[in-house]
Amino acid sequence: MSPFVILGATFLRNTALILGTALSLNACGGGSTPPTGPAVVQPEPVVGNLPPVEVSAVALADPGSALPEGWQNGAFMQIFVRSYQDSNGDGIGDLRGLIQRLDYLKTLGVRGLWLMPVTQSQDKDHGYAVVDYRNIEAQYGSLADFDELLRQAHARGIGVIVDYVINHSAAENPLFVQSKSANSNAYRDWYLWSGTKPTGWSIYGNDPWKGSVGNYYFAPFWDQMPDFNLTNAKVTAWHMDNLRFWMNRGVDGFRFDAVGNLVENGAGAWENQPQNYTILRAARQMMDGYAKRFLVCEGPSDPGGYTAACGSAFAFNNTANIFSAARGEAAGVQRVAAFHATAAAGATSRMSTMLSNHDSFAGQRASDQLIGNVAQMKLAAATYLLQPGTPFIYYGEEIGMAGGGTLGGDAKLRTPMSWNNSIANVGFSTGTPYRSLSGNLSNFNVAAEQADPNSMLAFYTAILGLRNSIPALTGGSYEAVTVNGSVMSFQRRVGASTAVVVINYGTSAAAVSVTGLTASGTLATAYPSATADVSVDASGQISVTLGAQAVRVLTLR
Ligand code: GLC
Ligand code: CA
Repeated sequence: MSPFVILGATFLRNTALILGTALSLNACGGGSTPPTGPAVVQPEPVVGNLPPVEVSAVALADPGSALPEGWQNGAFMQIFVRSYQDSNGDGIGDLRGLIQRLDYLKTLGVRGLWLMPVTQSQDKDHGYAVVDYRNIEAQYGSLADFDELLRQAHARGIGVIVDYVINHSAAENPLFVQSKSANSNAYRDWYLWSGTKPTGWSIYGNDPWKGSVGNYYFAPFWDQMPDFNLTNAKVTAWHMDNLRFWMNRGVDGFRFDAVGNLVENGAGAWENQPQNYTILRAARQMMDGYAKRFLVCEGPSDPGGYTAACGSAFAFNNTANIFSAARGEAAGVQRVAAFHATAAAGATSRMSTMLSNHDSFAGQRASDQLIGNVAQMKLAAATYLLQPGTPFIYYGEEIGMAGGGTLGGDAKLRTPMSWNNSIANVGFSTGTPYRSLSGNLSNFNVAAEQADPNSMLAFYTAILGLRNSIPALTGGSYEAVTVNGSVMSFQRRVGASTAVVVINYGTSAAAVSVTGLTASGTLATAYPSATADVSVDASGQISVTLGAQAVRVLTLR
């Protein structure tokens, strides 16, 4: 084995927050305090007690896919199972609870779910410290519950992708327990070890090399999440077996975690290394052996590169543009219009768009960024749902849910879903929720918004209805993009379907002309429904007047 192999970390993550969350969880779970310095010496485990590992080969056995063609265009709902719906009163969300909410999701119009890690984990919170890659977190349910979720989602035409943590495991994963037990252990080189302390390293402001029995292992995210050695072909082959394990059960794809960090080539070369893209292309290619599987990668500092390798990657670089436009800032409108219209349009149109997610480095929820301004929140929603890309709605964004009023860090973004206005449990659990609730639950909750035709929920439902019924909006081109002050317009086409979208981000009414349409044709108004048809003149032009902060969608008859 080489003296040290390097695996990596990405981007401007707030490791302190990740660490803080995990440490406090450890404390809650009665665990010991993790080592704070690099030179902590741990006793050698007794070899006879080493836990068995699950590294058996899994062959491709595709159960097929009954999902509609193009389901991957979404929209998706990103779901944190722990915070979505509790079914058994223990205050922790679970798979059976999620199954109870599938009708809600179908009515809303989502076509895919991204489940944050549902595998057995050590952190007892977000799940990214995986202990068993082939089993379900016991607090969430069982493999049988998971199979039932897949059946029930598929029966509603909804696909399910799951988070897959390729870069690191939990320290309690039997593979790492084996690996750290002795230099001679068969799994030693599944992780990154050095006999001397490597120098010159700093990732997210921390030294990623952690001490164990006089040796050092590489763990940039948390000392309890050691990085795999992804230059070891046995490790990447095992990951492929795990991926097949889930796809053979009917999983429709994956969200790959932290792909910027897969392989490191030195203290100054730990992010977005060439080997990362090679590994991801191989995974994508393997997935192509299955029908209709979708892969989206999390690589915040290179969305374009990871879209090319994985098929899709999150457009972290567009969220600030969307919020700026929603606030009516002309420069933001320009940037949001240009994002999907660059030379790389082929790639950006395949990107996965979003407003927020479970990580604070990606920004706060829309309600917190826009200070509860519902008109602006609707403009932000219309932007990512009507532009190209695959939109990922972070659970609760469709009701304008705010972060936890009394929480900070990532926990603020991960509160129980506000199903009703109960300050005791918000409809999430019959017991006491494991975490405190969203700050705006009294007015922004599913029950209240289902009864209000002007609610955020009604708006999301309407716009998703357009996406799902107008092919040009689900997967069409992006053309004739025009910005006039605070008004953006664009056209989208596929086959015989043409849609014209006009969004006025400004606070006063505006008149715009849209050109390049079929001369003398007629456009039907798809949104808002009360608006009349529009005739195209002989030069292929229409004039549209929009109220302040308004959205108009037209289709060619
Ligand atoms: C990704 C996840 C984040 C997690 C980290 C390490 O950034 O989104 O929540 O802490 O990877 O797994
Ligand atoms: Ca539960």
